[in-house]
Amino acid sequence: MLLWKSESLSLPENKMTKITIGVAGAGAMGSGIAQVAASAGHQVILYDTQQQTIGNALSMIKTSLQKLAAKGRLKESADEVLERIKPAQKLNEFAGTAFFIEAVIENLAIKKSLLSEVQRVTGTNCILASNTSSLSIAALSSGCPHPSRVLGTHFFNPPVLMKLVEIIPGIRTEESVLHESTGLIRSWNKLTVQAKDTPGFIVNRIARPFYGEAIRILEEGIASASTIDHAMKSLAGFKMGPFELMDFIGNDVNYTVTETVWKQLFYDPRYKPSQTQRRLAEAGMLGYKTGEGFYKYVDQTAVVPPPSDNIQLLRKIVLRILVMLINEAADALYLRIASKDDIEIAMTSGVNYPKGLLKWADEIGIDKVVDELLKLKEWYNEERYRPSVLLRKMAESNKTFFN
Ligand SMILES: NC(=O)c1ccc[n+]([C@@H]2O[C@H](COP(=O)([O-])OP(=O)(O)OC[C@H]3O[C@@H](n4cnc5c(N)ncnc54)[C@H](O)[C@@H]3O)[C@@H](O)[C@H]2O)c1
Repeated sequence: MLLWKSESLSLPENKMTKITIGVAGAGAMGSGIAQVAASAGHQVILYDTQQQTIGNALSMIKTSLQKLAAKGRLKESADEVLERIKPAQKLNEFAGTAFFIEAVIENLAIKKSLLSEVQRVTGTNCILASNTSSLSIAALSSGCPHPSRVLGTHFFNPPVLMKLVEIIPGIRTEESVLHESTGLIRSWNKLTVQAKDTPGFIVNRIARPFYGEAIRILEEGIASASTIDHAMKSLAGFKMGPFELMDFIGNDVNYTVTETVWKQLFYDPRYKPSQTQRRLAEAGMLGYKTGEGFYKYVDQTAVVPPPSDNIQLLRKIVLRILVMLINEAADALYLRIASKDDIEIAMTSGVNYPKGLLKWADEIGIDKVVDELLKLKEWYNEERYRPSVLLRKMAESNKTFFN
């Protein structure tokens, strides 16, 4: 396993040196990943094209470590951890790293050229990982001399607090590279799930209807944003409603993720973005960060119009959004994007869903989920509502996902 570096494997673990980790991109994600790796005892080399950004990242990491130390959540002092993170000015400083993660801006050409340049420096001694949210690992690794040593490791924001990491082997990734990377990231106290190299991986694909179907309900005038949020929180147990969450993520970021997944899935209507959110993004009504989105924000608090308490309406909203989410989860399983357990773990720990969607499907009843989807499909006459073949087969044979 890729945790230790030693001349002689007969040395006891505590006499071995942990491998050095390289991180490129010192923004929100790269700085968090550097902190996670250094906290796990690794030497970290942190690189960014903007020297100023590295300085800012180191001071943000210091503040974060000090807060964790004050809460008794660090085994060492903040300074001891921080000393293990070394800023780098040139890519050849990655020469001694055994695991490298890039978290630079989401741009295929930039990431592709960075990965190939780094691999020319490290040779085959190093595994290269990308933290991309939306680009394919196949495309990212295609310029590398050794694409078999490249894979995706998708951390969630903020990496220090979020436990989930999606691990994505590309079409050429060697089995040993997948296993070593998974072992390494688990040793950082993270939960890993494995996803196929497909648009949105697990979480960003399955979660689309949480936003998209909520906006459809709003656009059709069936309920207001506050009523939909209220329904999803009070009846379904979500921590945040779809509109609060879109405003929090940023309508620009959320819209772009939806649009990217939709385009990459060959314009499948199930993932179609909405004009409503596009207009908000175009108008700069990005949500919490600009003071206005689906809601207005006064003193950083949303002004939420009173929701309806019509229980029939609230139930209808929850059922419609839930069956669409379940349909995505079932289809991801059917298309072997991830295992049953990994789908449940991904949605409960990556986006904090109150329950795994497949378990939820069992509780609602697979036949009821299929009926509801077929009713929507018939009513709207849209492919968007087609039930997954897996759900239909299961309903026919009275099967459940779990016993
Ligand atoms: N922010 C999120 O919520 C989130 C979550 C999961 C994954 N991601 C992914 O992580 C990656 C980074 O996202 P972020 O939010 O940290 O972005 P960010 O804009 O905060 O940081 C990106 C950094 O990359 C640097 N950079 C640009 N080109 C570079 C190059 N050639 N070499 C080295 N550094 C370079 C920039 O100077 C910047 O500091 C993206 O691929 C993004 O899709 C982001």
